[in-house]
Amino acid sequence: MSETKKSDAAVPAQASAPVAEREVLLKVEGLQKHFPIRKGVLQRQVGAVKAVDGIDFEVRKGETLGVVGESGCGKSTMGRVITRLQDPTGGSIHFEGQDITRLSTAGMRPLRRDIQMIFQDPYGSLNPRHTIGGIVSAPFRLQGVEPEGGVKKEVQRLLELVGLSPEHYNRYPHEFSGGQRQRIGIARALALKPKLVVADEPVSALDVSIQAQVVNLMDDLQEELGLTYVIIAHDLSVVRHVSDRIAVMYLGKIVELADRTSLYEAPMHPYTKALMSAVPVPDPKRRGAKSERILLRGDVPSPISPPSGCRFHTRCWKATEVCKSTEPPLLELRPGQRVACHHPENFEDQQPQDTVLLSAAKAAAELVPTEEAPEAPAAEEAPEAPVSEDAPEAAAAEDAPEAADSEVSAAEPAADTDDKK
Ligand SMILES: Nc1ncnc2c1ncn2[C@@H]1O[C@H](COP(=O)(O)OP(=O)(O)O)[C@@H](O)[C@H]1O
Ligand code: SF4
Ligand SMILES: [Mg+2]
Repeated sequence: MSETKKSDAAVPAQASAPVAEREVLLKVEGLQKHFPIRKGVLQRQVGAVKAVDGIDFEVRKGETLGVVGESGCGKSTMGRVITRLQDPTGGSIHFEGQDITRLSTAGMRPLRRDIQMIFQDPYGSLNPRHTIGGIVSAPFRLQGVEPEGGVKKEVQRLLELVGLSPEHYNRYPHEFSGGQRQRIGIARALALKPKLVVADEPVSALDVSIQAQVVNLMDDLQEELGLTYVIIAHDLSVVRHVSDRIAVMYLGKIVELADRTSLYEAPMHPYTKALMSAVPVPDPKRRGAKSERILLRGDVPSPISPPSGCRFHTRCWKATEVCKSTEPPLLELRPGQRVACHHPENFEDQQPQDTVLLSAAKAAAELVPTEEAPEAPAAEEAPEAPVSEDAPEAAAAEDAPEAADSEVSAAEPAADTDDKK
């Protein structure tokens, strides 16, 4: 894991104006996306996958909102719904003050210029039969836009912008590495100078050694082009350095939303803490031990019938009766830090009268003082990934040998929840 090697000092001073003072670009309220489950010849609806189940957030101009959570918690669905590639089941989406919740395909067309998506799979998302020039120029054709100097010149400029060569114009996707393909995907997304870019796990499919380069490229382009990002990742380390704020999702809900520094220095939701402590985090409150790791047990429950009360109660080591019976609202406990938890970390207890742990809580997670942790997960032994902000952007580096997997171990039990349909 590269996480421990990164220091916050390496973060470029990104926000000149405080994020909280900037204009809201995207506002999402009570957003829901339920996928109906149908059975029998009559195809009657017998239930629903509650992929996104009532989330609220806003994204301000020029900021990067990171969205993290285990596989299957609804991140991609959220991304597809806020870009209106899918229709929401409930709630509302406002873009630049305009209600786009129910806009038709035709109604959305003019907005397609402003809202773009970068997809996870750099192999599947580029048509193998089209040249790079054809792929990156598609947005111009679709929108009927003629850039100054012509399409070809503009596409070549875009290719250079993302660190490729203008000579790549006539080549085909199979001639490129994963990292280069993702650069092509980025060039395509930026062609029409969008205002909002939603990137769904843009580097998850890439070799660890390439991940930082692509993330840094996106970061540089943001400053250059004044972009606003929603970057989805399952691993906090990916979004850590580029996000102004981070939303942590669990089973279709946002459980914590905070600026980067608060989230890292004093996470309040136990789930956030668990996600982070896949990498040792010093915790001065723990007597003796310098740090501890929380290894979550069990799988993410099914979004078809999520647990009552707090959805995390079946895996939370702090869960009490109130957690099982009452859903904790997402409250701003500190300025800029919203948390949905009855017994938050690093903050006063919200339900101090409720002290008896659920019997399952004791088995829900394992607290491992790092000094005594004999079996560090494989990821801990991974060779260091290049993480410095000035990592070489050279395409040659993309042929670097495979580095070990960088999965956050706390996220692993849920790796296959996508299959639960
Ligand atoms: N088109 C669909 N039909 C039915 N269920 C879906 C569909 N798309 C996603 N889901 C389900 O919604 C949940 C959230 O999925 P997804 O948004 O892909 O999560 P993530 O991106 O966080 O891994 C999963 O349980 C997934 O199986
Ligand atoms: S302490 Fe209770 S409310 Fe908080 S995350 Fe754990 S189960 Fe949920
Ligand atoms: Mg996804």
